[in-house]
Formats: sequence, structure tokens, C-alpha cells
Amino acid sequence: DDVYSMVIVSNRLPVDYDEQPDGTPGWKTSPGGLVTALEPIMRAADGAWVGWAGVADREFAPFENDGISIVPVPLSEDEIQEYYEGFSNDTLWPLYHDVIAPPTYHREWWDAYVRVNRRFAEAAARAADEGATVWVQDYQLQLVPKMLRETRPDLVIGFFNHIPFPAYGIYSQLPWRRQVIEGLLGADVIGFQRQADAGNFQRAVRRLYGYTTRGAVVEVPEGDDVRRVIARHFPISIDAEGFEQLARRPDVQARAKEIREGLGNPKTVMLGVDRLDYTKGIRHRLKAFGELLRDGRLSVSDASLVQVASPSRERVETYRQLRDEIELTVGRLNGDYSTISHQAIAYLHHGYPREEMAALYLAADVMLVTALRDGMNLVAKEYVASRFDEDGVLVLSEFAGAADELRQSVLVNPHDIEGLKDAMVAAAEMPRKERARRMRALRRRVRDYDVARWSADFLETLTGNATIRPGVR
Ligand code: G6P
Repeated sequence: DDVYSMVIVSNRLPVDYDEQPDGTPGWKTSPGGLVTALEPIMRAADGAWVGWAGVADREFAPFENDGISIVPVPLSEDEIQEYYEGFSNDTLWPLYHDVIAPPTYHREWWDAYVRVNRRFAEAAARAADEGATVWVQDYQLQLVPKMLRETRPDLVIGFFNHIPFPAYGIYSQLPWRRQVIEGLLGADVIGFQRQADAGNFQRAVRRLYGYTTRGAVVEVPEGDDVRRVIARHFPISIDAEGFEQLARRPDVQARAKEIREGLGNPKTVMLGVDRLDYTKGIRHRLKAFGELLRDGRLSVSDASLVQVASPSRERVETYRQLRDEIELTVGRLNGDYSTISHQAIAYLHHGYPREEMAALYLAADVMLVTALRDGMNLVAKEYVASRFDEDGVLVLSEFAGAADELRQSVLVNPHDIEGLKDAMVAAAEMPRKERARRMRALRRRVRDYDVARWSADFLETLTGNATIRPGVR
């Protein structure tokens, strides 16, 4: 087997297996910011990407895709149900997002999580050269750092958590709370989105293990020694330059104009873009928009809402229920308020390529990010990066990680429906000068701290810490 000096491990590969109806095999780029975030580093380094191909019961040999070595890890149908849909997305996901939906605790799911994490750790260990850097991604794989360290003490191990890490009072519900912390502490650096997430993690470490923490450093006793693990925030970002370039393309700008015309040229186009997930606050957004129409503070001829809700985790019951509720609400609102010439809500249950997204961002006067809890929310940053014209207003939930950086947005508490309504109206009516002033400040931040800075920052911290580890030179 080939070995690499840089190995990324994530549940999903940057490509999903995509079989044609006639059985012809193929691969398509899998959705998500992670791919764009890490692709440049992977091309520069001699890198391999270890992950799942998105289908059940298929074994694939490692292969090359766009200059990146892909190492697929197989999952059986049972493992998809217990490790992915079960423990990852029906236990950890709701728990880590402040129990917006009730988490389910099943011992069989935990057993599958341990088993599958071990398979990922073994695949990563096989792919990693002596002294290589292995960077493990996200909540699906929290046990991998410890499993790797046990068999491969030569490796430099990083972990990045893309979603929130909850307060101890919530985290402590997890029946396997000690094992998960121990799993993560196998890393040299544990990265979080917000400072608050890193703080929550450190508190959990102190409460469950009594280890000392000094600033970002957790002192993990190892025999007579201590191993220093860094746990701090590294807010993830996007390829800001790439998005801007896309938005500047004449065909993309023409498409933006076409989108507005298609909507009947309303004065204000409002836009929501989310995976169809209960953490995103789509219901709150629809409620606020519906009440504004009901109260006559907005009318369908002067405002329309475009809601892109991309399909996600459709076999998990909470997601099915959410879809039913949202589609019922959209149907009712359109029935009550649409006219022949103006639709209240354009609801789109699809994912779109980046070009179309950039056009939508350019077409939107008001971008609505109303997440109830979100690790970062890259949509907010994509919107800002696309607006080279220094126009458009971002309405952003305080509960999204992006709110720590994007202070010049219109910040909202999505639970406060009256406050949200006022913010939506204020955004729609904001004078051009103030829109430009805010957008310029937002763009400075997004362009300055882009995804290249994010990954460089993480990897420098990782190399810096690993070299002072006892036994590693
Ligand atoms: C979030 C998670 C990712 C995940 C993505 C899509 O952004 O942080 O780890 O890949 O959602 O969800 P899915 O379950 O389809 O991979």
C-alpha cells in the first residue's frame, strides 16, 4: 500500500460514489465546505483522504481524483443505520446542538460507533507514513485520535470539530461522555469553531478527569510525564477569493438578474440557504415571514422569499418530520398570500452548484441565516464573499459561530419572533450607505481570514505542539 505524509480522515470523502441507472460506475463531488477547504493543502502536500464513499456494502480500491489520493472505507447497511444515522446523527448531532431535538441513546449504536471509528483509525494508520500528520475531522470520528495514538505514537495527530461543543450540563447526558473525551485527547491539537466551544470542552475535561488546563493547554498525565494537548478555537472559513471570482463572472451576474425577473422583480428578495436541518431555524424564519405578510408589513409584490433547503439525512425520523412541517407551512403561506404574478415563497428542495449559488447570493437583497445553533455557518460567509458590489444585508443568528466574526451583520435571536420580524424589515429598508458600510467591514473579515489562513493556522499550531511532545523530535 502507498503511504503519505499528510492524511485527512473524515466520515465523507470529497467524492461520493455515483452509479448511473444502467450500472455505470462514477464519482461526483460531494457537497460541503470541507472539500474546498482542504483541497488546496492536499494538492500541495503528498496527501491522502480517508473516508466513506456514501453507499452501503461496497469496497473500493484506493484511487486518484483530481490530484488527491482517495482511500475509501466501507460501511455496511447496518453500520450506516447504527453509526451514521444513529449515533452520529440521532445522538451526537442533537446533543451537540443544545438538544434542539431530543437525542436518542442506544448501546448498540455506541458499539457500532466504536467499531467504525476503529476501522477509520486502521485505514488512516495504513495510509500514514512514519511521522506523518493525520488530521481527523468532525463528530463522527471522535475516538479516532486515541485509537491512532495507541498503535502509531510516531504520528502527529490533529482533530477539528466542525459543530458546536455543548455546555457541560448538556454534554454530561452522554452515557459515554468519558470515552469521547478520552478519544479526543489522543490528538496533539483539538480545534473548535468558537472560543465558547473550546471553553466547554476544557470544562468537561476538568469535570470528568480533573486534568489541569492552562490557557489553551490541557495537561494530560502520561506515566511520570505530561502530554500537552492544545484545545482552542480556529474559526473555519471559505475560499473567499474563489466565490468573489465566480460572482464577478458576467454569466453569473446575468443569471442573478434572470432570477430576480423570474420572481416578478419584487423590491426585496430575501434568501435562505440551508441543509434541511432542524438546527437551521427554517421554521422560525417562515413564521416571521408569514406574520409580516399577515400584518401587512410586507406584501408579496414588494418582498419574496427564496428558500433553498437541500435534502439531508432523509432516513432519520426527525428530518422527515421537519420536512413535512416545512412543506406544510410553505404550502399554507403560498396558498394564503401568493398571487398569480407573485409567489410568496419559492421553495427549492435541491442542492445547487456553486455558480447558481453565487447568482442567488447576488440576487438577494437580504440573506437570512437564522440557525438555532450552528458550528460556523459557511453560507453567511459565502454571501459576504459574493457581494463584491458591497450591497446586500446579512441577517445573522447570534447562535451561529459566524456571529463571533461577522459583527456588522444584523444580529438576531431567532427565538424572538418579534425581534426577527423587526430585523427583517430593517434589513429590507436599510439605506444604501449603511448597507455598503456594513458589507465593506464584513468583507474585510471574510477575505482576510479565509480557509487557507484557517488551515495554515491549524497546521502550524499542530506542528508547533507536536515537536515539544515527549519522545518526538
Ligand atoms: C455538517 C457536518 C459535516 C457533514 C455535513 C453534511 O456540516 O459538520 O460533517 O458532512 O453536515 O452532512 P452529511 O451527514 O450528509 O455528511
